[in-house]
Amino acid sequence: MIKLRDVWKRFGKLQVLAGLNLDVHDGETLVVLGPSGIGKSVLLKHIIGLLKPDQGTVDVDGTLISELEGTKLLTAIHHMGMLFQGGALFDSMTVEENVGFYLKENGDPRTGEKLSKKEIAERVSTALEMVGLQGTQSKMPAELSGGMRKRAALARVIVYRPQIVLYDEPTTGLDPIIAMQINELIIKTQKELKATSIVVTHDMFSALYVGDRLALIRDGKIAHIADPNAFLKIDDPLIKFLYNSISQDPRKLKENNHHG
Ligand SMILES: Nc1ncnc2c1ncn2[C@@H]1O[C@H](COP(=O)(O)OP(=O)(O)OP(=O)(O)O)[C@@H](O)[C@H]1O
Ligand SMILES: [Mg+2]
Repeated sequence: MIKLRDVWKRFGKLQVLAGLNLDVHDGETLVVLGPSGIGKSVLLKHIIGLLKPDQGTVDVDGTLISELEGTKLLTAIHHMGMLFQGGALFDSMTVEENVGFYLKENGDPRTGEKLSKKEIAERVSTALEMVGLQGTQSKMPAELSGGMRKRAALARVIVYRPQIVLYDEPTTGLDPIIAMQINELIIKTQKELKATSIVVTHDMFSALYVGDRLALIRDGKIAHIADPNAFLKIDDPLIKFLYNSISQDPRKLKENNHHG
């Protein structure tokens, strides 16, 4: 369980988080919505400990991430993975080297033990299969399409088999078909790893397709949080605007594809 309590963060004069409280339950997919620049990426970075709150606490599975630094922090977040906004790969490395990079550097994320080349290759291969990129090990990022690069970046995250996965704008800038593949991957990752997921997005179709609950950030706080049906009934102009921005309601589709 992830618990944020009274989290405040400002950069210079800009108060980004202002007393934010949030609970994320084990195994759920929580979607975080909100306009550009409101603090969504900042929120994710607090959960993985890359940013520290000025005030307040971030508790992940009983560990106060907000109090930790250095090796202690790295150990505490070994079960977390984040797909960064932009999700860049290292241009000079093959897909295999990219996906296996952190395993090679840090060994097994759970035990810290060094992994053999063969073990790394096997884990990379499994992760690539999960994202539908089997056989691309020796390709360079420049040879991949934008959607393939995004999936390779996702493979680099799930190769760790993280229990908590943070996705920052996973479908932004992708065509609808690739975006749908990413949506399916988010659901598959959650099911296969029994992961807790937080998805930050502007994409309301994706939000309603993958989300067990939806949250809206405003004025540095969680303004609303509810399951999709209840969320859409909230009388808020931004929610209405977001809903009107999509041409198809994915909730029926989700029921058909995933039996609810
Ligand atoms: N390290 C930093 N130093 C200074 N300002 C920052 C830093 N990180 C974020 N900010 C500022 O905090 C605000 C919130 O940033 P954040 O990246 O969380 O927005 P966002 O909601 O993710 O936006 P978008 O939807 O465009 O990605 C922005 O005004 C940003 O410029
Ligand atoms: Mg962002």
